[in-house]
This record gives sequence, structure tokens and C-alpha cells, in this order.
Amino acid sequence: MALMPILEFPDSRLRTRAVPVTQFDRQLSKLIDDMLETMYAAPGIGLAATQVNVHRCLLVIDVSDTRDQPHVFINPQILQRDGVEVTEEGCLSVPQVFEEVQRAARVRVRAQDRKGTTFERDLDGLLAVCLQHEMDHLDGKLFVDYLSSLKRDRIRRKLEKERRERGNVADAPRRAALVI
Ligand code: NI
Repeated sequence: MALMPILEFPDSRLRTRAVPVTQFDRQLSKLIDDMLETMYAAPGIGLAATQVNVHRCLLVIDVSDTRDQPHVFINPQILQRDGVEVTEEGCLSVPQVFEEVQRAARVRVRAQDRKGTTFERDLDGLLAVCLQHEMDHLDGKLFVDYLSSLKRDRIRRKLEKERRERGNVADAPRRAALVI
């Protein structure tokens, strides 16, 4: 397994729309394992392929405290959304920034697993928020897009300044809980 570099805002590659996964082979399995390792090491609770510069519809999530309950969603589609939930979100691609985002509280998702088998699941709580955040990544969208352009510009300047000063923003200590 191998750690993959994570793209950071405002990298334009994060704006790429992912294409569906069509081959469920050993190469895909290795990519999933590498993404899980990268997510755990970061540390974060979710990672979309877009963030590691692979533009295919694939994301991994683990919201458990024990960090041993990985979920893999390939070619996910949201079939139903209910309720409203406001959560303070962070993102591995927007280090050190935490802002409140409003999303559906519950979703029904259809996706495929690493073998290509289709499944449907009802998600709520953090898992539902996380799935919606990661699916945005696959569409080339970031959680800062929900903020005003003024705020987004302020975040971009802050990250660029920190990168100049420290070399790598991601090396700073971070709150792991909601970094998705
Ligand atoms: Ni993210």
C-alpha cells in the first residue's frame, strides 16, 4: 500500500468531474486500499478519488471512533434526501478551515462495492453528511463553494500565505473529527 498526495484548494484539478468506474479489477482494489491508508494517515474521516488526482467516481469513509469500519462507495447516486442538518465541516483539501454547511440529514444511496455489486443504504448523522461532502468532490465541488465569495477568497489567501511560510499547510496540527 502507498500514501497518495492530497490536492489542496485552490488547485484547479479539484474542479475535475469524475467519470464512472467501469472496471472492478485488482488495480481498483489497490487504489481503494491506498485511498483508505491515505485517509487514515491524514487523518480524515472521508476521501474522494478526486482529492488524490484520480478522477473516477469512488470515495471512502470511516466515521467510527475505532477507525476500523471503512465504507467504500463506487459510482454513488443519492436516491432520496430528507431533513436538514448543519455541521461544521473541514476538508483534507482545505486544511485548517472549518465552516458550517447545510446538507440533507438523511440520504438513501445506491452504489457499488469493490467487486462491482450494487447495494442501497439509508444513511444519517455524520455518515450522511460525509457522503454528501465526498460526492461533491466527485463533481468538482468543495465545501467552501457554499460560503460567500468574500469568505472563500479570504480562505484562499490564508492558505496561500501559510503555504509560503510553512511550506505545507497540512503539516500543522489539526482537529481530525470532521476533516472529510
Ligand atoms: Ni473534503
